[in-house]
Amino acid sequence: MEILLTGATGQLGSDLKPLLIKEGCGVQAFSSSSLDITDREKVFNAIADNKPEVIINCAAYTKVDLAEKERERAFAVNRDGAKNLAEAAQKTGSALIHISTDFVFDGKKSTPYMETDKTNPLSVYGESKLEGENEIVKILKRRIIIRASWLYGVEGNNFVKTILKLAGERESLKIVFDQAGTPTWTYDLAGAVVKIVNDLKAGKKEYGIYNYSNEGVASWYDFAEAIVDEAKGAGIKLNCGSIEPILTSEYPTPAKRPAYSVLDKRKIKAAFDIAIPHWRRSLKEMIKELCRKNGGRGA
Ligand SMILES: NC(=O)c1ccc[n+]([C@@H]2O[C@H](COP(=O)([O-])OP(=O)(O)OC[C@H]3O[C@@H](n4cnc5c(N)ncnc54)[C@H](OP(=O)(O)O)[C@@H]3O)[C@@H](O)[C@H]2O)c1
Repeated sequence: MEILLTGATGQLGSDLKPLLIKEGCGVQAFSSSSLDITDREKVFNAIADNKPEVIINCAAYTKVDLAEKERERAFAVNRDGAKNLAEAAQKTGSALIHISTDFVFDGKKSTPYMETDKTNPLSVYGESKLEGENEIVKILKRRIIIRASWLYGVEGNNFVKTILKLAGERESLKIVFDQAGTPTWTYDLAGAVVKIVNDLKAGKKEYGIYNYSNEGVASWYDFAEAIVDEAKGAGIKLNCGSIEPILTSEYPTPAKRPAYSVLDKRKIKAAFDIAIPHWRRSLKEMIKELCRKNGGRGA
């Protein structure tokens, strides 16, 4: 299977590229500097030259708080970039696997979000990602959109690395406990994407919108507690002795986040026969991987 991968050096792209290669796919991988998805002409040329069977878009503007100030940039990447890829895919007959977010929802539900639930983003980032989805749906039939949540990986910056760093420096931390979602290891999501690619190769064409996260539910506070526990268990030296749960109102951020964004994954599990690990088990594995990479140190 010939794949064109964008955002290849981001958290998800870094986990996905080696897995695709291991699976025997031919992968043309592009970073933001080798292919800027907002450059329509370059996107069309790259796709026309490589004629991929599948395009996987891991490129995105992901700075959720900064997006409130950089609205134009967020929309240029997350809406117009996605549109460029869909139009180019339409021309070459390529399928598109695109990654979206739980932030398309407003978090007012108290039961897991289904793919069919009403979207209502609270932030510029969420709006720009939803408009990207809408463009793709308008243009292309051969597309799989995966809404993922709370991603962290060994590469890049994320909540796990921030907590490890802060817990190494400080004796106590304050973390919000009134936002619930599911932490998701990019390695697991990458595995799910590979499974989808294999199904496409086998002629199983379950196009549509899907949710994906690890299993289970956590608040950011629960997640931080687990990070510190797992890190200490893995032998990482930390100064932090206590974490205090605080309200979102005590930690105001420029972008509003959904208070509840747990995703219902039954659709993706049934369509692609995917087994999803619990977030806590994946966190343990990720911290082990981080230690292996950093020679016993966490962050
Ligand atoms: N992170 C999360 O918690 C989270 C949660 C739910 C969904 N998602 C979605 O999951 C996907 C993967 O996220 P991630 O965490 O892997 O993000 P990430 O680590 O921020 O990676 C995004 C990549 O996109 C690249 N990029 C930015 N602008 C670009 C452009 N104009 N053209 C081409 N590449 C560009 C970035 O390159 P530079 O670094 O050089 O700018 C980066 O390598 C995204 O669609 C994101 O919206 C993320």
